[in-house]
Amino acid sequence: MKIKTSRRCLLQILAGAAISSQCTFASSSTSSPGKSLLQIGLVTDAQYADSPAKGSRFYRQSIEKLGTAVEHFNQYPLDFCIHLGDLIDHTWSSFDEISQPLKGCRHQLHHLPGNHDFDVLDEFKLRVPERLGMTARYSAFDMKGFRFILLDTNDHSTYAWPAGSAEVADAAKELERLKSASVKQAQSWNGGLRSAQLDWFEQNCREAMTSKKKVVVFAHHPVFPDDIHNLWNADRVLAIIERYPSVVAWVNGHNHAGNFGMHSGVPFITLHGMVETADTNAFATASLHGDRIVITGHGREPSREILFRT
Ligand SMILES: [Fe+2]
Repeated sequence: MKIKTSRRCLLQILAGAAISSQCTFASSSTSSPGKSLLQIGLVTDAQYADSPAKGSRFYRQSIEKLGTAVEHFNQYPLDFCIHLGDLIDHTWSSFDEISQPLKGCRHQLHHLPGNHDFDVLDEFKLRVPERLGMTARYSAFDMKGFRFILLDTNDHSTYAWPAGSAEVADAAKELERLKSASVKQAQSWNGGLRSAQLDWFEQNCREAMTSKKKVVVFAHHPVFPDDIHNLWNADRVLAIIERYPSVVAWVNGHNHAGNFGMHSGVPFITLHGMVETADTNAFATASLHGDRIVITGHGREPSREILFRT
């Protein structure tokens, strides 16, 4: 297969971004979702609330936009769909309203928690993962030669736990430490992974390498490129990914503008937030092949075809 460097990669290289020499894209046109080992529906940051638009965020429109995405996904034999966090903007009842379009989805549906999903009263905070249908705050499953890792990037944060808890106190201390060190992602709406989850993540990457599975990571917060939206301890996560060639792709939400970068031969894909704009949608399907990931974007989401590192 003929390989070329994409225009986007070339622009990032010219801009001095930390792009590896493996920033290569297959030159063929984007594949249809029917020709791959595995196909996934991707959505992030529907961020629904029954509230008037604020700035570029049109909260109420997400019900119709998500319905459109579900209708599209239902046309294909997808293996599963996933929403990468911030299903709601605020208020516990918002989960009921935005769940309506999701009820029509004929595929297995996974959720990740995002920072806004915890913008509910303290009495509901610990119930958020359960409300999203999650059996654990972070998890992994194997399918057709791939291991999918679903991280909880709100693990170490000041918002995902009830006020007065030890978790909030620890996170507030860490946030102050990061701010003192002028770390750009030291923001109250970001979080980090605590040591137990970091160890679990590394163990999963190691096991996948032993069993020759390719790892695709889903997260709400990004870790690359360097950005104000990134996980507090993005460097710790990147160090693990560098050690385990089993990791072939990272896909996240949170930064509604979308983003993309290659690091150690791994694509780090930030999907565009659905809540943005009054009348344009953003979602995608991903086709996983033995040697590449093909993202077919819809609306504001661009299409990409990226070779896995070898
Ligand atoms: Fe977010």
